[in-house]
This record gives sequence, C-alpha cells and structure tokens, in this order.
Amino acid sequence: MAKGAGKVTAKYRVNRFWSIILALVVIYAIVKWLIPAVSRWMTDLPFPLTVPGELIKIYMILAVVAMFLLVTFSQRNFDEFMYPVRKFLRAEYGWIPRAVVLTLISLLIGYIAYDAALPTKETPISLRIQHPSSNFPKKFEDLKNPMTDPPEAEVQAFIEQARENDVALIEQVAIDVERWLEENPDGHMLSFLPTAPVKKFLAELEGGEVSMAVAKAALVEKNLFEGRALYAMNCRACHGDSVSGDGPMADGFKLRPINFTDNGTIETIVEGYTFWRVMNGGPGLPVEATPWDSAMPEWKLSLTEEERWKIIAAEYDLAEKTPRIPEGH
Ligand code: HEC
Repeated sequence: MAKGAGKVTAKYRVNRFWSIILALVVIYAIVKWLIPAVSRWMTDLPFPLTVPGELIKIYMILAVVAMFLLVTFSQRNFDEFMYPVRKFLRAEYGWIPRAVVLTLISLLIGYIAYDAALPTKETPISLRIQHPSSNFPKKFEDLKNPMTDPPEAEVQAFIEQARENDVALIEQVAIDVERWLEENPDGHMLSFLPTAPVKKFLAELEGGEVSMAVAKAALVEKNLFEGRALYAMNCRACHGDSVSGDGPMADGFKLRPINFTDNGTIETIVEGYTFWRVMNGGPGLPVEATPWDSAMPEWKLSLTEEERWKIIAAEYDLAEKTPRIPEGH
C-alpha cells in the first residue's frame, strides 16, 4: 500500500517539472502563433498582425516569473519540481544523458559569451533616403489624381445623379448621409455638404442650367469629403488629425509617420509617387529607405484604387499643399 502511494507521488513529481516546461511552451506558442492567427481572422486582412519580439520577451519573462512563484510557493512544490532534476544530476537516468546535457549546456553558455564578446562589423550608418526611387515604376510618374480632376464623363454622370437626388457615395459615408436625410427629408441630399461650390451647383441645378465647371467643382468637393472620412478611418491613427504626423500611435514608431504639412514631404513629390508609396507602404520600399523601417501599411491590400486616390486628394487638401508637377519628357 505504502509502496503504491509512493509510486503515485513519484509519477506526480516528474509531472510537475514537465508541466512547467509545457506551460512555457504553450504560452510561447500562443503569443507567437495563436495571437497573429486570431488577429488575421478578426481583421480579415490577408496577413497576420505579428506580436513584436520585444513584447514576446516581456511576456515570457512574466511567464517565467509566474512559474518561479508557483514552484517556490511551498517546499512541497519546490521538491516536486526539483525531483527529476536531482534524479538527473545523480545520473539516475544514466550517465550518458547527463554527460550529453551538461556538455550541451556548457557549450551553449560558451557560445553566448563568445558571441557577445566578438567584435561586430556593422556597415557605417548611412543617411536614409526619404524618397527612394530605385524601384519606382516610371509609368506611375505621370499619373493624375482622377478625384481632383475628374473626366467629363464622370462629371456628366454626377450631374445626372444629382438631378435624380441619388448621388453615389462610398458606403462608409452613405450611412451617415442617410441618417442626415432622415432628419432633413425635404432638401437635396448634397446639402449635407454646405460648402460654397456645392451650394452654387445646387442653385444652378434648381435653375435648370448647369455648367460643367461648377458641377466639376462640386464633384471634387464630394470626393474630398469621402477622402477625409477614409483618412480619418485609416490614416489618422498615425498621421494625425492635423496631418502633421502626430496621431495617437505616432510616438510608438522609431521612424515617425510623415508630417504632410512639412515642405519636404508630399509637396516635393509627384502625385503618382504618393500613390505608389501609399499603395506599397513600408514593405514596398527599397534598401536605401533603411535603416529605420517604415511601419506604413501596404494599402493596396485593404483599400481600392479609388479609395486611395480619394484619400490622397484629401491628404493634400488637409495639408494645404499641392503635389509637384511631373516634368515634361
Ligand atoms: C501604422 C502607422 C501608419 C498608418 C496607419 C499610415 N501611415 Fe503613412 N507612414 C507611416 C510611416 C512610419 C511613414 C514613413 C515615414 C517616412 O517614410 O519617412 C509613412 C509615410 C507615408 C507617406 C510618404 C510621404 C513621403 O513624403 O514620402 C505617405 C504618402 C503616407 N504615409 C500616407 C498614408 C496614408 C494615405 C495612410 C492611410 C491610408 C497612411 N499613410 C497610414 C505610418 C503610417
């Protein structure tokens, strides 16, 4: 009877050691793989949001501290944890495993010390190129923003929609405009945007005689409105309300999100370049843009081309800047 009971505890003692190792492995796996997988499922993005290495380190240190507290909580816990370790050190599992493990540990410590002491040769710090163009496709250079200079057919379609009082809006703002319409059922739907160009357009529409230039100005106004809404939803967290790179998340990045009101940023580049930068984000930049990697997301993955052009129009407008004009070839 006593012998049997002893056996059960012995088995349990072995488990205490391995359950702690297993718990640490499981915690690591959750932080490293499960959280990114869940983030991907929650955000619907085609890539996972990885947990930064520093954060994994902090989680693991906390987990080790928690396990340490658990093990040292009582003498019994400690003995249970140490049972297989002592047994191993007394070579009760055989002297070959003991020799192998102890040699490996010595070698590992030796390697870590060697690696830390080894002089490293790092490439000298070079200046970061803010607007690298080595992989910028030439065909983007002459692109014009179709949202600030809409083609005639679009303006014509816009006039038709306005006549029907049924102007197409992106879904992110359509919900708010619908709510506004419920409170203001008599007016034209475009009067939710009471700016001078829109008012002028609505007055002409009422009179029956609409000029293309006035309609175009009102359409640009509508595009900017949508662009601002998209900017607030997608870019504000980093680039800020005032587009000066001071959003609530900005301080978290070593390479700060760009200040669009700064003369050296979006004003010095052609629109096609801005479009390409927004499309490909940090991952699309060539090596000259390092050493600090840009955290700018790859917007082609989550915004349509039209949405990107609208945001860019709003970005220049909010910063009160105009893009550089492409040079004639
Ligand atoms: C996670 C933070 C973050 C978000 C969100 C973000 N950006 Fe950025 N953005 C950055 C960082 C960091 C840079 C890099 C600064 C640099 O290249 O010097 C940058 C650079 C840029 C540039 C390059 C400007 C230049 O002069 O080269 C443009 C344009 C830009 N962002 C537009 C946008 C737009 C549009 C959105 C929303 C659709 C957006 N960003 C959302 C972080 C962000």
